Amino acid sequence: MSGVGEVSRRRVLQSSAAALALSAAQANAQVKTLRVGLVGVGGRGTDLLGQILRMDNVAVTAVADIDERHIARAQKLVTDAKMPRPEGYGRGEKDYERLCERNDLDLVLNATPWQWHTPISVAAMKAGKHAATEVPAAITLEQCWELVETSEKTGKHCVILENDCYGQDTLMVLNMLRQGLLGEPLFAEGGYMHDLRSVKFGATKAGPVSNPETWRLEHTLKRNGNLYPTHPIGPISWWLDINRGDRYTSIVSMSSRGGAMREYAEREFGKDDWRAKAEYRLGDVNTSILQTARGRLVHLYLDTNTPRVKEHLTRLQCSKGVYSVMLDKIFVDGRSFRGDNENWRARDEWEEIAPYRERYQHKLWRERGEAATGSHGGIDYMLIYRLVKRLQAGLAPDTDVYDAAAWSAIVPLSIESVATRSQPLEFPDFTRGRWQERPGINPDEID
Ligand SMILES: NC(=O)c1ccc[n+]([C@@H]2O[C@H](COP(=O)([O-])OP(=O)(O)OC[C@H]3O[C@@H](n4cnc5c(N)ncnc54)[C@H](O)[C@@H]3O)[C@@H](O)[C@H]2O)c1
Repeated sequence: MSGVGEVSRRRVLQSSAAALALSAAQANAQVKTLRVGLVGVGGRGTDLLGQILRMDNVAVTAVADIDERHIARAQKLVTDAKMPRPEGYGRGEKDYERLCERNDLDLVLNATPWQWHTPISVAAMKAGKHAATEVPAAITLEQCWELVETSEKTGKHCVILENDCYGQDTLMVLNMLRQGLLGEPLFAEGGYMHDLRSVKFGATKAGPVSNPETWRLEHTLKRNGNLYPTHPIGPISWWLDINRGDRYTSIVSMSSRGGAMREYAEREFGKDDWRAKAEYRLGDVNTSILQTARGRLVHLYLDTNTPRVKEHLTRLQCSKGVYSVMLDKIFVDGRSFRGDNENWRARDEWEEIAPYRERYQHKLWRERGEAATGSHGGIDYMLIYRLVKRLQAGLAPDTDVYDAAAWSAIVPLSIESVATRSQPLEFPDFTRGRWQERPGINPDEID
C-alpha cells in the first residue's frame, strides 16, 4: 500500500472517529437533564443517591428527611460530586409536600419507611412529577388503587424501585423464556429470607418503638402476613408476564407461630426488657400461594425473624425445564442428562449454568456489567441507570403503576388471608382488563 493511501485512510479514520465523538457529545447535549428530588435519605436513600450521582445529565435539586443529619449527609454527597447543593426539607414528616411543589423537579424518588411510600408518590404525581418509590409501593389495597388512579389521572409514571428485576439471573431467564429454551412457565417460588432481627431492634439496641430507626419493628409487632414480597415477586412477575398477558387471580396465605423475636430480645436485652415480653404479631415464617388467570402458581416465603444465612431461593419450573437461582443450576428436558440415552436413570441431572449464562447473558450485563458496582452487587446501578435513561428520553420506565400495585397488594391480601384462617382471596385486576392486550417485557428493549 502506498504511503499516501495509508495517510488518507488514517485521515478518514480520524475524521470519522472525530465525527463519532462529536455526535456522542451532541447526543449528550441533547439529553434533557433529569431533575431529581429525594425523600428519605437513610440507609437505602443514601445508596440510591450514590448511584444517581454517577449518572450523566442528572441534577439533585432537593432532599427531604425528618432527620437533619441525614439531609446534611446527602447535601455533602452531592456537593462532593461537584454539583450544586440541593435544598433541604426537614420541617417534619410532611415536608415532602413542599418539596413536591417545587417547579424544578421531574422526578421525586422516595426511600422512606413503608407507610410513607404511597402518600409521597401521590403527592409527587399530583404536583406534576414522576414518582419512584422504594418497596413495597403501598401497604393497603386502598393505597394500591390510589396509586393507579393518580397515575392514570395525572399521566405521571409511578415506578416501583424493584432492584431484583435487574439481576443477572432475572434477565438471563427472561432471555431463556423469550428464546424458547424453557418452554411455558408453570410454577415459581421465591422468598425474602433475611435475618433482620438486629436491624428491627435498631442499631442502638435501645429506645422506644416510635424511634424512626425501628420502624420495621412496628410492622413486626402489629402485622402478620407477607410484609415484604416484592424482591421475589418482581422477577417472577416479569417471567410470568403478570399484567402483560397474565395476572394474579387469587391468593392464600399462612403464617407460622412467632417466637424468634422474643427469644432474641431476651438474650440481647434481658428477660425483663419490654421487648422480651412484647407480643409480635408477625409469624416467624409466612408462606403465600398465588394463582394466575393462565393457571400458573407462585409460592412466596417471608422469613425475617429467624437466625439464618440470607437465602436467594428462587426457582422457576417451566414445561421444558427448571432453573434454580439458589443452586445456580438448570435442567433442560432432553438435554440435561449424563451418560447415554439408554441409561434412563442418569437422565435427571442438574447442569452447571455457566455455558447457558455465556449464551443467554443479558446485554445490559454484557455491556454495562463492569460499570455496575456498588450496593447489592450492581443491581442498584442497573435500576437507576434504566430509570434515568428512560425518563431522560421521555419514555416509560420498565415498571409501571400496575406492577407497583399488583406486587404490593400481596401485603394486605396476605394479612387478610392469615387473619381469616387462610381464606383464599380474589386478587384485584389493577389493569381493569388491559392485562390481556399489554405486551410482555421485551428483554431486547432493556439496554
Ligand atoms: N430495594 C432494596 O434493596 C432495599 C434495601 C433496603 C431498604 N429498602 C427500602 O427502603 C426504604 C428505607 O429503608 P432504610 O433501610 O433506608 O430505612 P432507614 O430507616 O435507614 O431510612 C429511612 C429514612 O427515611 C427518613 N424518614 C422517615 N419518615 C420520613 C418522612 N415522613 N419524610 C421524610 N423522611 C422520612 C428517616 O429519617 C430515614 O432517613 C424502606 O422502604 C425499605 O424497605 C429497599
